[in-house]
Amino acid sequence: MPVVVVVGAQWGDEGKGAMVDTLAKEADIVVRFQGGANAGHTVIYKGKPVALHLIPSGITHEHTVCVIGNGVVVDPKALLDEIEALSSLGISITPERLKISDRAHLTLPYHRMLDAAREMAGSRLRLGTTRRGVGPTYVDKVDRVGIRVGDLKFPERLETKLRINWEHKQAFFNALPPDERPDFNAVLDELLKYAELIQPYITDTVTWLNEQADAGRRILLEGAQGTGLDVDFGTYPFVTSSNTTAGGACTGSGLPPTKINFVLGIAKAYTTRVGEGPFPTELQGEEQVKLREKGREYGATTGRPRRCGWFDAVLVRYAATVNGCTALALTKLDVLSGYPEVKICVAYRWRGEMLTTFPAESFILEEVEPVYETLPGWDEPLSECRSWEKLPANAQRFVMRLQELVGVPIATVSVGPERSCVLTKPDAPSIW
Ligand code: IMP
Repeated sequence: MPVVVVVGAQWGDEGKGAMVDTLAKEADIVVRFQGGANAGHTVIYKGKPVALHLIPSGITHEHTVCVIGNGVVVDPKALLDEIEALSSLGISITPERLKISDRAHLTLPYHRMLDAAREMAGSRLRLGTTRRGVGPTYVDKVDRVGIRVGDLKFPERLETKLRINWEHKQAFFNALPPDERPDFNAVLDELLKYAELIQPYITDTVTWLNEQADAGRRILLEGAQGTGLDVDFGTYPFVTSSNTTAGGACTGSGLPPTKINFVLGIAKAYTTRVGEGPFPTELQGEEQVKLREKGREYGATTGRPRRCGWFDAVLVRYAATVNGCTALALTKLDVLSGYPEVKICVAYRWRGEMLTTFPAESFILEEVEPVYETLPGWDEPLSECRSWEKLPANAQRFVMRLQELVGVPIATVSVGPERSCVLTKPDAPSIW
């Protein structure tokens, strides 16, 4: 199965980074296809956690080529900082190992300002974004005033490009106090400096990736965020600005649907979300704090505490459908050890109705009451388990029930952050 897509089946932070890292061992190429420096994947390298925001998780494996696809929005400063941080850990970043699409859009310094300004403009506009300028960069892309990575190859044309984008932002700049307004020449100089540093990595990744796929190379397409944050399928408007689902893997890489062989959805054994927006199974008070502490649920990018709740089978079933998941990988099962009972949301009750599908309207999701099925828990810590057979019977029963409710085979179960903690179920479909 040479082309595999990995996507989040919840609201992000499902542990995709660690799964991709495990799969990348056997991959030739790992591709990011959407999002920007809003993503935060933590992988373990030589026993140390490494937070990645733009560069695909495969970078820690020497043999893998990493690609930042056309669907990604690239903050050049964040990218260069990340290259430097990885280099200081001894991970060599060369143009042979990192390729950046000439069609990817650039996040400009004032995109972050625009993101923050919207967040601070009032509670009705607030989305709880990561303030990394991702939304405003995609706005410019769709409004056809964006600057692309490929434009950095032609410094003599950059000024004109920036001028167009600058004019587009006049109303915003004029509303700022004069001492906070960015300076055109300073931004241009900064871009020219980045242009020189980023040039060697710029590639026609669409052609390159298709050639690699045709040559039978194993390609892993790594999604950021999750289905609940997809701009079309998620809890709009409380979403990110890109297609986080499997369709986005095609539009964000240039690899067509006919070349995708396997879609792996990643779901945590419970649910978390950061930022604003509906969350039907969110726990309250002490119960939420307990799960957050047990799961160490704090954002990799912003450090924000994540909202926590029980597994929502309505959401994950919907995710399995819109992504066409071949299988699911279940992560952080170990976190549920010690609960006398574990819960699964199997439906929503809304104004006297029973909903078994995921509604489009966020206000309905705000109002629903989750309908839970309760299963017996397990006391044993799981972090030492190294095979599916070694899991306590109640933990296995929980996983099997999730599989039944979601309607897709669960291929692996993770019981800890290390690569050895990913347990493969005996009946798992083979990924590669
Ligand atoms: P943005 O992507 O920064 O515009 O933020 C939009 C929404 O997506 C907010 O609710 C963020 O908290 C959420 N979000 C963005 N990136 C991630 C991520 O990597 N994990 C989880 N949530 C994210």
